[in-house]
Amino acid sequence: MSTLFIRGGTVVNADREFKADVITQDGKIIAVGENLSAPAGATVVDAGGQYVMPGGIDPHTHMQLPFMGTVTMDDFFTGTAAGLAGGNTTIIDFVIPDPQENILDAYKKWRGWAEKSASDYSFHVAITWWSEQVRKDMGTLVNEEGVNSFKHFMAYKNAIMCDDETLVNSFKRSLELGAMPTVHAENGELVYLLQKTVSEMGIKGPEGHPLSRPPMVEAEAANRAIAIADVLNVPIYVVHVSCVEAAEAIARARARGQRVYGEVLAGHLVLDDSVYRHPDFATAAAHVMSPPFRPKGNSEFLWRGLQSGNLHTTATDHCTFCAAQKAAGKDDFTKIPNGCGGVEERLAVIWDEGVNTGRLTPSEFVAVTSANTAKLFNIYPQKGSVSVGADADLVVWDPAGTKTLSVKMQFSKGDFNIFEGRTVKGIPSHTVSQGELVYVQGDLRAVQGKGRYIKRAPFSSNFAASKLRADTLAPTAVKR
Ligand code: URP
Ligand code: ZN
Ligand code: ZN
Ligand code: ZN
Repeated sequence: MSTLFIRGGTVVNADREFKADVITQDGKIIAVGENLSAPAGATVVDAGGQYVMPGGIDPHTHMQLPFMGTVTMDDFFTGTAAGLAGGNTTIIDFVIPDPQENILDAYKKWRGWAEKSASDYSFHVAITWWSEQVRKDMGTLVNEEGVNSFKHFMAYKNAIMCDDETLVNSFKRSLELGAMPTVHAENGELVYLLQKTVSEMGIKGPEGHPLSRPPMVEAEAANRAIAIADVLNVPIYVVHVSCVEAAEAIARARARGQRVYGEVLAGHLVLDDSVYRHPDFATAAAHVMSPPFRPKGNSEFLWRGLQSGNLHTTATDHCTFCAAQKAAGKDDFTKIPNGCGGVEERLAVIWDEGVNTGRLTPSEFVAVTSANTAKLFNIYPQKGSVSVGADADLVVWDPAGTKTLSVKMQFSKGDFNIFEGRTVKGIPSHTVSQGELVYVQGDLRAVQGKGRYIKRAPFSSNFAASKLRADTLAPTAVKR
């Protein structure tokens, strides 16, 4: 293993910024401080005028996902390599068992697919059906496999959607195990109905997609999941919050004292629903993802959520399908595979639109791109922190560097870039993964299979606090 000496940068952590050199050895950070001397034989990176930050953690990706009759373009190698090119050093992907499929079998299958990852990775496991076996296997996943979060799709009826009975059972079991329940919040019954209604109106193109999934469809599910979590006294994490109404549901619950957390996608922060009315089918279809891009005004509300602390993490939902795959829905928008890319662009887009505009400080940027995710999913400070003993997963960030994002330049497989033509200021100059330089000014050195599976322990401090709160407020019987 190599020794790296990152000289003269400004270290940015979620709590503060300070001038410091950073030394890494054998995959760990071994020193952070001013005027350190370079160890013999160290590779030196000059970070003068640049920031040194924890590598990004994308808590929501789908590499090699079999979905809607096809499989995403990016597999675990190409997808994580693209992430490294963008300064992202860890992903949390999803094991999504088919209904009735044994969840441990599904987990093993995904672990096999992920072995080619170039960066570190971890897994949320989706609960798509319920049985005593599922209950038992959730325990095995938490206690033996390092899974501490379970995902629930409240949409995708007749496929992976879970009903309220499954939600309740799984949330309750998650609480027992100290694992975070997470939800894709959209009311699948309403989506199913509206898809038919919109189609019967003669709207068959991608413009039908947002019409079949309006904000209230998301808000209803977010409110329902939050209410169930409140009754059961379990923390909850809502993935890809896209609209004012769902963000408000989270803010209200937090104001009541509930432990609710929200994730925002880079795409939802900068795009709006006009993309679905593009005259070119392929362009409009390339933006079909769920929840859809929203009318103008929603993005600003999401930014304010990140700024105010009512929303916590940023992700991409990286899930790439090419034009030929999207063409499955040429005459029927409900058949367009849902998903867009972004793992490579997230940090630059959020820096450019967040830090350069004063919506976020550099430290707040680190909070919402890595540290908060690491804390919520209990891998902090191993990840999400530039500190002695942490994993040497770093990005050296050039705030003056510019780049025009384009499908022509991207490492991600796929034939589209939802950020096409956007010029960003603030880009990674170097990415360090496990102490190795894996990206140096345009030169991607990702190594297939180098990524490690990251186990995550249960019972983050959230759970201890929830339990104490429940104990404090527990009702008592009247002694007669
Ligand atoms: O459209 C999306 N988001 N595709 C991936 C699956 C999901 O809902 O996260
Ligand atoms: Zn989703
Ligand atoms: Zn997703
Ligand atoms: Zn293709």
